[in-house]
Amino acid sequence: MDNRVYIFDTTLRDGEQSPGATMNLHEKLRLAEQLESLGVDCIEAGFPASSQGDFDAVRAIAQQIKNCQVAGLARCIRTDIERTWGAIKDAAHPRIHTFLATSPIHMKYKLRKEPQEVLDMIEEGVRFASSLCPVVEFSAEDASRSDKDFLVKASTVAINAGATIINLPDTVGYAIPSDYAALVKYVIDNCEVSDKAIFSVHCHDDLGLGVANTLAALNAGARQVEVTLSGIGERAGNTSLEEVVMALQTRKDIFDLETNIHSEQLFPSCRLLSMIIGQPIPANKAITGGNAFAHESGIHQDGMLKNRETYEIMTPQSIGRLGSDLVIGKHSGRNAVRNKLEQLGYHSLSDEDFETVFNAIKALADKKKVVHDEDIEALVVGEIYRMPDIYKLLSIAVQSSTENMPATAAIALEIDGEIKRKAGFGVGPVDAAFNVIANILGRSPEVERYAVNAITGGTDAQGEVTVRIMENGLTATGRASDSDIITSSAKAYVDAVNRLVRKEQEDNN
Ligand code: KIV
Ligand code: ZN
Repeated sequence: MDNRVYIFDTTLRDGEQSPGATMNLHEKLRLAEQLESLGVDCIEAGFPASSQGDFDAVRAIAQQIKNCQVAGLARCIRTDIERTWGAIKDAAHPRIHTFLATSPIHMKYKLRKEPQEVLDMIEEGVRFASSLCPVVEFSAEDASRSDKDFLVKASTVAINAGATIINLPDTVGYAIPSDYAALVKYVIDNCEVSDKAIFSVHCHDDLGLGVANTLAALNAGARQVEVTLSGIGERAGNTSLEEVVMALQTRKDIFDLETNIHSEQLFPSCRLLSMIIGQPIPANKAITGGNAFAHESGIHQDGMLKNRETYEIMTPQSIGRLGSDLVIGKHSGRNAVRNKLEQLGYHSLSDEDFETVFNAIKALADKKKVVHDEDIEALVVGEIYRMPDIYKLLSIAVQSSTENMPATAAIALEIDGEIKRKAGFGVGPVDAAFNVIANILGRSPEVERYAVNAITGGTDAQGEVTVRIMENGLTATGRASDSDIITSSAKAYVDAVNRLVRKEQEDNN
């Protein structure tokens, strides 16, 4: 059996569906470029029929990405498939990914269709998709709760209608490795045309078994895995790309399988995602967490000093965790900064964007001795990959004390070219800043979440702040970084309001 495993990344589709992970078009494009550098085989860029924003993002990614496939998701109905084809037809390597539920519970209550009607829809939808696009994938949604013989029938119908990839998702994260592997093997063994397709798995992590189920399915003959960076996705998330790839690499003795992934791009990719969505990587996250390669206990440290392999099953370098020797500081010139940006994967910044980033790096280097890779990424993401702001924070001054007195904030905002200033109070300096900004804008969003994360170590580290706000049933998450955490809090709040306003405008169109 072929030992090549195809990596289908759905960070921009299933991942983006997870709460707080919404990305704008620039951010999606940047992440897609990074996924291409990482070496994934297929990027699922979105669900074009779900909104105009998704359609535009999928189309932009399809036009930009040249070295891997770009897929768009479509329900197994003509209108969705047409819309998806409209978004991906310019891709160098397009793929239509169409899905329909096959479990008794989904067919009866969600689709309200008899099994034969579902088979007819699969046949018609896949045939139509194949008439448009050279590569068609069919997913039997909720496969892990479907009847195994019905799955064989559905797979056979889809392959005969032109699908060359059959995905058997564990949509609700219900599967257990042994049962799931047995199901995948049963379908492959009993579908008489299974040699004409690659079998794929797509697992959700509701029971914390996404990676285990995915690996078990590979042992059973699946050769495509649908995964996301850092495992972001619906509910408890999807199978994590970096965990599957490093399991295959580290335990080659067991799996003997190959991917096309450049593993030293794993950490930069997950870090970029974290910067974009404003969700820090948890310290104990496998592979990429801050503690994943930290050795605290004396016995472990002693062992590590004698031979790293006593306590380390993979090296930090193998996932791209060690920064390069090129240190950026206030004396660094344009060449060094350009070089560093290239190392970090920013190959296509325009001259104008480069100047913006260069000036921001110099300004930061004036405040901090050493500017780390993480700082630079935060600056690039913050300065370049964001939509033009409607509201802009111009200046902020706050005062707080240990005495029994409220904190004060004075703020200047730019709104449509006009500068507005106000001052006010709050329980603490962040509360005061948020109150004043809300007051200037004449809005009163509720702050649902507020989190501060130090991007690098040291007291001069940049503080990255994430703020989620809610107003009139709409939520938006803003983020910003600055070496002053009150300033980054105010910027993150303004960013959240900008995103909320954009959502309101989208809803009205
Ligand atoms: O979880 C799922 O079943 C999906 C399908 C659309 C593949 O995301
Ligand atoms: Zn899913």
